Amino acid sequence: MGKNEEKSVINIAILGAGTVGGGVYKLLSGQKDEIRQQAGADICVKKVLVRDASKERPGYDRAVLTSDWADIVNDDDIDIVVELMGGIEPAKTYVLEALSKGKQVVTANKDLLAQYGEEIGEAANMNSADVLYEAAVAGVIPIIRPLKQSLAGAEITEIMGIVNGTTNYILTQMSETGMSYEDALARATELGYAEADPTADVEGLDAGRKVAIMASNAFHTKVVFSQVYTEGITKITADDIRYAREFGYVIKLLGVARNTDSGIEVKVHPMLIPQNHSLAGVGGSFNAVFLHGKAMDDVTLVGRGAGEMPTATAVLGDIIDVCRDILFDCCGRVRRNCYKKLRVKDISECESKFFIRMQAKDRPGVLANIAGVLGNNGVGISQVVQRSGNGDTAELVIITDRVAEKNFNDATEILGGMSVVKEISGVIRVYDNV
Ligand code: NAP
Ligand code: HSE
Repeated sequence: MGKNEEKSVINIAILGAGTVGGGVYKLLSGQKDEIRQQAGADICVKKVLVRDASKERPGYDRAVLTSDWADIVNDDDIDIVVELMGGIEPAKTYVLEALSKGKQVVTANKDLLAQYGEEIGEAANMNSADVLYEAAVAGVIPIIRPLKQSLAGAEITEIMGIVNGTTNYILTQMSETGMSYEDALARATELGYAEADPTADVEGLDAGRKVAIMASNAFHTKVVFSQVYTEGITKITADDIRYAREFGYVIKLLGVARNTDSGIEVKVHPMLIPQNHSLAGVGGSFNAVFLHGKAMDDVTLVGRGAGEMPTATAVLGDIIDVCRDILFDCCGRVRRNCYKKLRVKDISECESKFFIRMQAKDRPGVLANIAGVLGNNGVGISQVVQRSGNGDTAELVIITDRVAEKNFNDATEILGGMSVVKEISGVIRVYDNV
């Protein structure tokens, strides 16, 4: 198979001129010579799709702006569609139509891939097309390509990571500068890290979508977003952060995918991790992904997980890769390949250690009552701190031993109904090296 020497220009259309689309446009406009050398051809942005093409967009050549998808899908000279609009529709329709017209696709759209990855992957396979999506997970960190290619021979058993830049930025600011949750979220939005609806970030949905995509690629089985257990950071308080520090931990929102003998675990939730763990020092909008495989042992990847230029860099890498495939006529070489059918475990079947903070009556015997309820439900206590508060209330913070989620939930339900327990103020899982 030789190089297609005839093709000196590859035309692309970018769908979206927002944070990421704008970054890709800038990179392509600013490094033309370098990119030609890398890609093997000039990359020409023929069209940029936006909702409102009449809006003033500094830096853009007005002639490329359109709000009409037909200008792109019906243009046979456009080789690659770069989808950076976000959301399910019309992105899904546009991606499928582009593939059916023989175009290649690059996207950063985790919402779409976590729900319709199979349909899109099958359409790509049928059309022998590339669908590359490195930027959809963990920003600039290369993770999809390593899973599909470099580590294709590794039997990956675990992926655990900080895969949402917005929440990592918020937790870092709350923990290191004492910034309020609201101010930190507003700043993350200004910096272009947050999704159009930041609920997706702070409730763990964005990370959950990334976990579904990583798990499908790592374990070669279909995992969709609705199968991922998600819990966000909205209930984390300054008190939780302070107690976690006293116990020698930091709080991070983690995405976890594990392939166990009884099925796969896919979940996102805040977790206390030891201050000396490699993920503990990963702050701000940085992400980190830890992988473990049977023969390969451990790999950790760290980099910016969100923001204009880091994300645009990952998209540009995909565009250049597709250009090379076009020039060597080998598009569709790296396919979606979910050849296993693994069971996804319910969260109640998973096990964890827990941090529980509660307000209880400050009188003799209360701690023993609480310990009794935990013990009766098979929940062992690893550490405990009790602080007398104002009046008759004491704050009790317990770290449990490893226990099945179901047992822990049964115990907290009973604790919540006890007259000596005024409030359960916080429950967070604790890292346990298994
Ligand atoms: P954004 O700033 O909100 O930009 C979205 C762009 O898409 C806007 O230019 C908008 O046009 C255009 N658009 C949206 N719906 C459209 C429609 N129906 N028809 C035509 N144009 C439409 O979003 P973003 O932050 O760049 O994110 C883009 C994608 O990248 C999303 O899938 C996101 O999850 C993903 N991503 C983002 C980051 C990040 O750090 N921001 C990182 C990784 C992945 P108008 O300008 O006319 O409104
Ligand atoms: N909103 C996402 C984040 C963008 O904060 O990580 C990157 O996917």
